[in-house]
Amino acid sequence: MQYEDAVKLLSENGQSHLLKFWDQLDENQRKSLLDQIAGLDFAAIAKMREALAAHTGEKSAKAAGSMAPAEVSVLKGEAADAAERIGSFEVRNGRVAALVVAGGQGSRLGYEGPKGCFPIGPLTRESLFFFHARKILALGREWGACIPFYVMTSTENDAPTRAFFEENAFFGLDKRDVFFFTQSMWPALDAKGRIILDRPDHVFLGPDGHGGTLSALERSGGLSDMVRRGISSVFYFQVDNPLVDIADPAFIGFHKQNLADISIKVCPKRNPDEGLGVVVERDGRTEIVEYTEFTPEQKNERLPNGDLRFKYGSVAIHIFSLDFLQREARAGLPIHVAFKKVPCVDGAGRTVKPVKPNAYKFEKFIFDSLADAKVCSCLAFDRADEFAPVKNAEGDDSPATCQAALVAKWARWLRDCGVNIAEGTDGAPAIKIEIDPAFAHSAASLRKRLASGGVEIDISKDILLQ
Ligand code: UTP
Repeated sequence: MQYEDAVKLLSENGQSHLLKFWDQLDENQRKSLLDQIAGLDFAAIAKMREALAAHTGEKSAKAAGSMAPAEVSVLKGEAADAAERIGSFEVRNGRVAALVVAGGQGSRLGYEGPKGCFPIGPLTRESLFFFHARKILALGREWGACIPFYVMTSTENDAPTRAFFEENAFFGLDKRDVFFFTQSMWPALDAKGRIILDRPDHVFLGPDGHGGTLSALERSGGLSDMVRRGISSVFYFQVDNPLVDIADPAFIGFHKQNLADISIKVCPKRNPDEGLGVVVERDGRTEIVEYTEFTPEQKNERLPNGDLRFKYGSVAIHIFSLDFLQREARAGLPIHVAFKKVPCVDGAGRTVKPVKPNAYKFEKFIFDSLADAKVCSCLAFDRADEFAPVKNAEGDDSPATCQAALVAKWARWLRDCGVNIAEGTDGAPAIKIEIDPAFAHSAASLRKRLASGGVEIDISKDILLQ
């Protein structure tokens, strides 16, 4: 793009201030600014400005009105076996893909670099990506099938993510079965709808939310790749939960039995204020309502048996049918507005890191696709086994709580196999434990592995099985 083209484009779109520092920029800075301007999606920015105009600053009372908790199934006994048979058939026949969203900024954790590279192994400090990839490897080996792995990155963390997989030899996966794709980056706007510069030669950009998965999959050729491979179900999960049971055959079978467009795993909320979205039924449709949109009365409402009425939260573990993803990728999702702290330049071109929110950021949410789903099914799971995310540096949902959950889960597996893991005074295992998913990715696979002999376990010290 030439300077004159940029002047015209920006003036047509009310964004001429982006060239305010032009005279102070050197050749390289000018080129990079022009490249950025050429990459701005002004059709999307027009939609952001509309969303901003409609934004009241208050969360709408979305939760109000006649809504009821969505029906939630629990799989046990015969029903679980039947679902698992169907799901394993799907996996065995190469019809299941895994998709991780790893384009977020991980700002609460404050980790430099892609969140997926965060060291979480209690003994080895292996990364979040390690645990995901090794589960896929193990499941593929178990069923003699390929489970292609789609990894969504952002422009910011794409190169380091790819480099991390390369450095780690793709954790044993065949690199031809790992597909990286990059979500769009969106600018932030001030209250007048003007794009924010964070340097004189640079537009602030942030990822367009996990809802960006749909258009990014389509644009990158990810959807065509899935079609070419004969994929039917896509197991979707977030990068920060190393407990997730990837491509869990029972969940896939359940999804297939229900002929669902989307299936959602849900678990009982830790307490009424836990920040999980809740799956509800309203006007014959299923929706996920964010916790911020519930009134305190709704959050705390109880059934006669003492359970919360809106008891189950969604932890972003979903299965999508591929044909639904294809339809939705073209349909587009609504844009959400949030008032946030965004670095910006002052009048003299110096970067300022604001101490309070100063600008509007825009995001799409994957669960808004529910509005178009004809059938959506919800399955309850045991959170101790499958959910302990790394969101914060300390406290709840931190590396420490996540590692404790991993160790506790592996201790349960070992005890199931008759290994007597001692408890400390707090009831947690007295030693650290780590199991490489490629050694055993489930309680059943660990039992098999130990039964086949040749594994010595010394319970008097930390246990590493790899
Ligand atoms: P979170 O909403 O927890 O955000 O993302 P985050 O970026 O990890 O952390 P904070 O909020 O900045 O502290 C949930 C999942 O969705 C992915 C994240 O990588 C994480 O797996 N995500 C989020 C994306 O892939 N893209 C986005 O634009 C946002």
